[in-house]
Amino acid sequence: MVTAYRHEPFTDFTVEENKQAFEAALKQVKEELGKDYDLVVNGERLQTEDKIVSTNPADTKQVVGNVSKANQDIAEQAVQSAAEAFKSWKKWDAASRAEILFRAANIVRRRKHEFSAYLVYEVGKPWKEADADTAEAIDFLEYYGRQMLELKDGKPVNSRDGEHNRYVYTPIGVSVVIPPWNLAFAIMAGTTIAPIVTGNTVVLKPASNSPVIAAKFVEVLEEAGLPKGVLNFVPGSGGEVGDYLVDHPKTALISFTGSREVGTRIFKRAAEIQPGQQHLKQVIAEMGGKDTVVVDNEANLDTAVEAIIVSAFGFSGQKCSSGSRAVVHEDVYDEVLERVKKRTEELTVGNASEENVYMGPVVDQGAYDKIMSYIEIGKEEGRLVTGGKGDDSKGYFIDPTVFADLDPNSRMQQEEIFGPVVCFTKAKDFDEAIEIANNTEYGLTGAVISNNRAHLDQAAVDFHVGNLYFNRNCTGAIVGYQPFGGFNMSGTDSKAGGPDYLALHMNPKTISEKY
Ligand code: NAD
Ligand code: ALA
Repeated sequence: MVTAYRHEPFTDFTVEENKQAFEAALKQVKEELGKDYDLVVNGERLQTEDKIVSTNPADTKQVVGNVSKANQDIAEQAVQSAAEAFKSWKKWDAASRAEILFRAANIVRRRKHEFSAYLVYEVGKPWKEADADTAEAIDFLEYYGRQMLELKDGKPVNSRDGEHNRYVYTPIGVSVVIPPWNLAFAIMAGTTIAPIVTGNTVVLKPASNSPVIAAKFVEVLEEAGLPKGVLNFVPGSGGEVGDYLVDHPKTALISFTGSREVGTRIFKRAAEIQPGQQHLKQVIAEMGGKDTVVVDNEANLDTAVEAIIVSAFGFSGQKCSSGSRAVVHEDVYDEVLERVKKRTEELTVGNASEENVYMGPVVDQGAYDKIMSYIEIGKEEGRLVTGGKGDDSKGYFIDPTVFADLDPNSRMQQEEIFGPVVCFTKAKDFDEAIEIANNTEYGLTGAVISNNRAHLDQAAVDFHVGNLYFNRNCTGAIVGYQPFGGFNMSGTDSKAGGPDYLALHMNPKTISEKY
């Protein structure tokens, strides 16, 4: 008997016992750093000379792990292995597939702080963000397992006299999974297990900034009983291995989460029919965001300030859902800006493997350089209110940064910066605020802080985003509670963690029998 789904609780690090347990996990993981991790193809572990060296972005000399790197030959073997394993995996009873997810959830839950500690070292997550990332991975396992049990017999359709009709879901085939590094555990795990539990087989190419956490998750699924060939693990270059996997004629489904640039490239390539290909590839592409917190003049300003801070600076603004724009009614603009400045200056920045800071580093040198160059653009386009400094001498640290008085069409208010930078724009009334909020090519998340019910109702219809939040931050969707995905160039709106997600990994089949 499977119990009702409830999301995994977050750890309260103000409780001394929890703090000590997490410090112990950080210490234990520190002793394990620098190990080698293998590729996995058809259950066999492969080592290559060429490695992805994963380092701690807070301390770039610290090697988290050396991960063998696939080339196109290995990618080919991985696809063939997945295609072969599909023949038997698709026939597995759905409840037995779900059981593997439930076992994996228990393994991760038992070692929760260990996984979160890896996230601290590998992508520089502060404790709270790492804990939430691990909790979300557990949630995906528990939720998708239960969703599969609900879908295993299909959906009811009508039958007439002398006829029995069935509507069932069937797996599609080889699925290529390409996750990002930012929700390094949750998205990688969620996008990997959704095709698996629905009866597909997977070739997983993790992000190059976070291959170690992915390698550890592959071990968990093996321990939970996943048969060989169902999950093939091929870290490698996006350009070389990613393109090869996307183009492969045996690839049936591509589940991508990442930037607009790479997502649209995959979408286009997947539409090309390759020699020998007998199907259209299905593509899930969840991409970037340029997300807005709107503050009305009738609003609780404490809530507004906290919503802006949490949305902008959680995980250093490196979430697709990050609120990098604050659009504030002119009546309260100066006050909200001043209070956000004060709160921003109180935030702690540092190495989360040494202390429980609010913000860690950004993920790598490329991200650091890009964000610092946007800060220079911000100085020209707007007014620097606080922050603006960076230090990449030891790790990639950037101060939380606030700009004011931006034109809604400025680059700062249009382009995804993906760093700890929030830009304020003044609106003359609520209508204009919503108009500005909608004025980007994305449509992922948004928040409205208002005590005016008519304005909230208006936003529910007019604010064009996939995840809209009232009187709270625009980040931190919970699996099974706030299904996640965006409109416009934010992607295919697959709504990860929602009731319709698994169906995207299957073909519905109608079976009609006369008797
Ligand atoms: P990215 O697009 O650079 O990389 C994502 C993945 O694509 C990585 O695994 C990368 O190795 C791979 N890749 C790169 N080139 C490829 C190619 N030619 N073919 C196939 N794969 C290729 O994104 P990122 O820097 O890892 O992540 C940040 C981006 O992800 C941001 O834009 C963020 O908004 C977005 N994101 C979106 C969501 C969402 O649900 N909408 C969630 C998290 C992150
Ligand atoms: N799903 C993540 C969030 O809501 C990205 O913040």
